[in-house]
Parts: sequence; C-alpha cells; structure tokens
Amino acid sequence: MSIYSAPAKIILYGEHAVVYGKPAIAVPVPLLRAFAVTRSAEPGQGLIIRAIDTGHELPVDLAAEVDNSLVEMAQRVLRHLNATPPDAIIELRSDIPVASGLGSGAAISAALARAITACCGCTLTNEDLNMLVYAAEQRYHGTPSGIDNTVIVYEMPILFRSRSDFEPFHARTPLHFLIGDTGVRAPTRESVGDVRKLYEQDKQTIQKKLDAIGAHVEAARQALETGDLSAAGRLMVENHRLLRDLTVSSPELDRLVQAALAVGAIGAKMSGGGRGGNMIALVMPETEAQVRQALETAGAVRVWAAEVR
Ligand code: MEV
Repeated sequence: MSIYSAPAKIILYGEHAVVYGKPAIAVPVPLLRAFAVTRSAEPGQGLIIRAIDTGHELPVDLAAEVDNSLVEMAQRVLRHLNATPPDAIIELRSDIPVASGLGSGAAISAALARAITACCGCTLTNEDLNMLVYAAEQRYHGTPSGIDNTVIVYEMPILFRSRSDFEPFHARTPLHFLIGDTGVRAPTRESVGDVRKLYEQDKQTIQKKLDAIGAHVEAARQALETGDLSAAGRLMVENHRLLRDLTVSSPELDRLVQAALAVGAIGAKMSGGGRGGNMIALVMPETEAQVRQALETAGAVRVWAAEVR
C-alpha cells in the first residue's frame, strides 16, 4: 500500500480577474488534502478506482467512453504515460469539501494521477502533471485560469500571471489565516460563467473592476513582501468589495467577512469561485481565537487555521 496526496488551496487575492489575465496570489493548505491509496489487485483484474466518499467503484478501460471525471483523468494519465491500465485498486478520499472554492477537484485529480503513475512504474514531472490536471479542470470549470492546478501541483505559494508565467511567492512574515466555510456548495463553473455574462453585457465597467483587482494584487504582493500586514488586510477588504460588485459573493460570505473584521481580523474576503464556499480572514495569533469564535457564531460550519511561511 502506498499513499499519494495533494493539498487544498486558497486564493489570497485576484480570483475571477485572473481568468481575464490579471495576476493573483494563491497558497496551498497542506493540512487539508485529497488522498489516493494504492492496493494490489489480482493479475488481470485491471485498474479500479474506488471513490470512498461517494461509494463508486469505477473500472478504467482505455477504450471505453465514460462520462466520469475520475475515469477520464485516469485515461488521460495512462495515455500520457503510454501505459496500459495496471492491475491495481486506487482508493480515493478527500478532506477537502467539494464545490467550496478550495480546489477539491484539482487535488483529487493530482493525487489520482500520482498514484496511477506509481502503479505503472513511471515518473511524471510536476510540469506534465500540471498540464494533465489543467485538462481535468477544463472539464469541471470550462475556462479555468490554471491557478488552482498550479498551486496544488507545485504545493507552494505562487504569484500567478498565466499558465506559462508564475513564480514562487514569499511573504516577509508568517501569515495566519482562518478559513471559514459557509457550508453552501457552489460550482465555480457557474460563478465564472456569470462574470463572463456581465463582462459581455458591459465590457467597459467590468474591465475597470478587473483592472482594479489586478492593481490590488500587485499592491498586496508588495505589502506582503515588505511585511505591511495592515495594507495587506485593507487590500483583502477592497478585493472582497470588488468581488461583490462582480456578484460572486453571497449573504453568507458577506456575513462571515463582516464578523471577522468586527472582532479584529486584519483583513477578510471570500476566496475562490464564491457564491458560497469559503472565506478567509488574516489574523494575528493573539486574535485568532476571537475571530474563530465570531465566525462560528456568524454561521461558519467549519473553521480551519492555515499558516503561510
Ligand atoms: C477558482 O478557484 C478561481 C477562479 O478565478 C477561477 C479560475 O481562476 O479558473 C474563480
């Protein structure tokens, strides 16, 4: 038995605008992960994916046309490796809530691809894995920017400009975040599609908002690199306001953001696709407990702590 995994992610600044070529900053959340556990199978049994969370048992046949994202991912990996399905059972399970802005789909795809590659006795560069997970993201999201798969595959904080232009990102001081889950599941595909509709209806107005988000990301980068946490926090609040203007926040997200700010969070915003899912609050270690309490009182169904170094 071997275990392969990939982390969740949060976007600190720049979601949605990144789909339009603006920069964004994202970090992995190593404590929240998707796992793929390999188990040996009888000779000739072929490859079987067991999705523990949904109870599905999925045989992988290279020739079959199956409308299932996990089987498609497995086929994609096998074709890339030029390999036939190995005799193996791969069990998938994830701590990352689905459709909640934390990159659950990309993480499960990355863990599965790592497990299949190992079962085939092959190796896969992060660059190739990133390309394969991006293809899976296209199936989930339609027009993904590529930020989710990149931060999840490389498992490091990144400043992302495009799929071919991203770099590691280093904050000057450790950053302490709380992640608050609204409990509302919202597919990224829909919020991205709705922003696209707004953009098509009024390009000039929406472009201004996307440009403003892009400028905030550049300013936030500088603030974090110089350790100016109060500027970083202010820019999170500004970023949230612009995301609201783009209609991708929700009453639940706004309530959690307000609750965190009211008890001393340095900054707070929604994170990811929005309309539900998760928000993040930048806190000091001394204020973490009170912000956590405020988030729970305001309706967060779960709160996780994440440290970025
Ligand atoms: C989703 O985590 C981030 C979005 O910007 C979509 C994307 O970048 O593909 C909303």
